[in-house]
Amino acid sequence: MKFFIDTADVNEIKEMNDMGLVDGVTTNPSLIYKSGRKFEEVIKEICDLVDGPISAETVTLEAKSIFDEAIKLKDIHPNIVVKIPLITEGLKAVKMCAAEGIKTNVTLCFNASQALLAAKAGATYISPFVGRLDDITHVGMDLIEDICTIYQNYDFATEVLVASIRNPLHVLEASLMGADVATMPAQVMKQLAHHPLTDIGLKKFLDDWEKVPK
Ligand code: E4P
Repeated sequence: MKFFIDTADVNEIKEMNDMGLVDGVTTNPSLIYKSGRKFEEVIKEICDLVDGPISAETVTLEAKSIFDEAIKLKDIHPNIVVKIPLITEGLKAVKMCAAEGIKTNVTLCFNASQALLAAKAGATYISPFVGRLDDITHVGMDLIEDICTIYQNYDFATEVLVASIRNPLHVLEASLMGADVATMPAQVMKQLAHHPLTDIGLKKFLDDWEKVPK
C-alpha cells in the first residue's frame, strides 16, 4: 500500500519524508490556500522534495479548459498527476488526458457509480472521500469496499486512492480491503505508529537496562 501525504505544507512534507514513509503527495485548492503560498511555486518545491506522484488540481469547469490546465500542469514536473473533479466535463478531460498519456487523479468521488465512470474514462487514480461521507452519517469505508470490488470484477487499472482520511482506522480498513493508496494528513501518519503499550514497554526496558550491572 502506498502512503501519500495530503498537504501543501512543505515543512510537514519534509518531516514525514524523513520517516521514509511518503510515496507521494496530494494537494487541493484549499490546501494550497492554507499554505499561504503561490500555487506553482509550492508545487515545484514539493516535486523537488518527493520523488513520487504529486497531485495538482485543476480549477476550471469545461473539458477543453481542464485539458489545457492539465497540459500546463504536467509541464511543471514529470511526476505531476493532474487532479480533476468528478463532473461530466471532468470525465471528458480525463479521457483526453489518457489519450495523451497524462496521469490523472479523479477527485471528489462520493459513490461507486462515479468511480466506475472514472475508471472507464481512463483515470490513473480515483479519490473517494471517506471522511466527508462519515461527516454526513454515511459509512465512507463501505464506498472503498464497493469500488475495490468493481475494479477487481473488471480488472480496471485505475488505482483506488483513499482520500479525506481522518484517523488511523480509515487507513487500516483501507489496507484490509486492498486499496492501492491512502492519502492522509501528517497527524494520521504519526498516529499509525503510536501504541501506549509500546511506550510503556519501552520505558520498562530502558529502566531495567539502567539496573543491569555494567
Ligand atoms: C484528497 O486528495 C483531498 O485533498 C483530501 O483528502 C480532502 O480531505 P478533507 O475532506 O479532510 O478536506
